[in-house]
Amino acid sequence: MFYLNNKSSLCFILFITPLILSSQEGENLFNEAKCMACHNSQDFKKRKEKVNNFKRLQKSVASCAFGNNVGWFDEDMHEVSKYLNKRYYHFKKVPLQRD
Ligand code: HEC
Repeated sequence: MFYLNNKSSLCFILFITPLILSSQEGENLFNEAKCMACHNSQDFKKRKEKVNNFKRLQKSVASCAFGNNVGWFDEDMHEVSKYLNKRYYHFKKVPLQRD
């Protein structure tokens, strides 16, 4: 690690904590919603004719979320999409689709 004085390590912690929490959030939401009751990791693959970009991934997440009444807000669906993208799909461009 770098040598940090107290002030800069505090800044570092304040900066990094939300990043860690938010990357965890999608995973937590996904697990809590029991999405894997119907899915397995094979379902989440980049396929030419189906989910082939991040936008489509978000749409699929949204339709499954609505279909299963998990009560997610847009923000939650975005987090879950980011989680699935990171873990399975690996789409290059992740458009910042904040509302
Ligand atoms: C009741 C069963 C069921 C549950 C629970 C469910 N899904 Fe789905 N999901 C499906 C089905 C069926 C499809 C395939 C629809 C199709 O043919 O495009 C699908 C498709 C998807 C896809 C697109 C997969 C791809 O690459 O083609 C994603 C992403 C997805 N679901 C996410 C979720 C998430 C997130 C949850 C948790 C909120 C969830 N699903 C819960 C049944 C379910």
